[in-house]
Amino acid sequence: MTARIAGIGICVPENIITNDDLAKIVDTNDEWIRSRTGICERRISTEDGTSALAAKAAKKALEAAGVSPEEIDILILGTSSPDYNYPSGACEVQAAIGAVNAVAFDISAACAGFIFAMEIVQGFFQAGIYKTALIIGSETLSKVTDWSDRGTCVLFGDGAGAAVLKADEKGIIDMMMGSDGTKGPVLACQSRTLGNFLTGTKPEIGFMTMDGQEVFRFAVKKVPESVEILLKKTGIPKEEIKYYVLHQANERIIEAAAKRLKEPMDKFPMSISRYGNTSTASIPLLLNEMVEHGMLEPGDKIVMSGFGAGMTWGAVLLEW
Ligand code: UT7
Repeated sequence: MTARIAGIGICVPENIITNDDLAKIVDTNDEWIRSRTGICERRISTEDGTSALAAKAAKKALEAAGVSPEEIDILILGTSSPDYNYPSGACEVQAAIGAVNAVAFDISAACAGFIFAMEIVQGFFQAGIYKTALIIGSETLSKVTDWSDRGTCVLFGDGAGAAVLKADEKGIIDMMMGSDGTKGPVLACQSRTLGNFLTGTKPEIGFMTMDGQEVFRFAVKKVPESVEILLKKTGIPKEEIKYYVLHQANERIIEAAAKRLKEPMDKFPMSISRYGNTSTASIPLLLNEMVEHGMLEPGDKIVMSGFGAGMTWGAVLLEW
């Protein structure tokens, strides 16, 4: 048995923040942001937190799949901006949607979170332990963004995407995942600084920090590398891959990956211009659009690939 995507749902906040809006609060401009990243606007949440966005996306995914909340065996939320240390966002979603029979937990794999969640589910399906899963990528990174740092604040957006996975004959063909903790400091958010009565220190709120060029170099190497590994392992030729659904971090990263893979840009759909980098939500947001636009037919082969803080990376090759 393998994992098949049975339905997708998304939720993005209503507030649209354009590049011109950001130029009013930091020293930046529309031309720089568009040409360096491909981003034109992003959504920023003022009401819903990570769990609320996740629950709304989850309900839509269940509806699309025709699956009831009670049928869910396992519910995984990938996020790097949870509302609380605990309870987990996944447990909050479980309560909100009534997935009473599910085991629910969060995973922290940053922008690779959706891919990691899918691969964890695949393991359970292959072992015959569970049959129906709900995976969600949800972020409100706006709350850990330093809105005076133009190097990061123009990049990210809030949003959530969810998918119902069912154990089936066809679906995931192969997958890979990896991490390198030595590169942790290049993209970090130290929002839980230690504080106790012995050290006399107090907990401090920290913001996201990033060495953009280092992350860029990492991504343009790892994304094509992970795709190549999967193609080689499965023996599936590139001609059979209809689309590469990559984490939407920067248009230039996606272009560089296409070039290294020697594949045409029309195989790389994008939604970054409208949502910015929504971290673990970016892949399901894009997949949802592809479904809405009728771009995917049963039997199509696609590769999904994500990378992010940790550093983490992963890719999945599946048949739709
Ligand atoms: O999900 C993973 C999360 N992160 C990423 O994927 C980030 C990967 N990295 C990137 O996308 C790019 O490195 C950035 C978009 C972050 C930056 O693009 P870059 O082409 O690497 O620019 P840079 O950092 O080399 O900066 C070039 C110049 C600098 O000015 P000087 O030193 O040349 O005078 C920056 O200070 O651009 C300046 N700059 C800006 N200017 C206007 C940096 N941010 C901005 C800005 N507006 N927002």
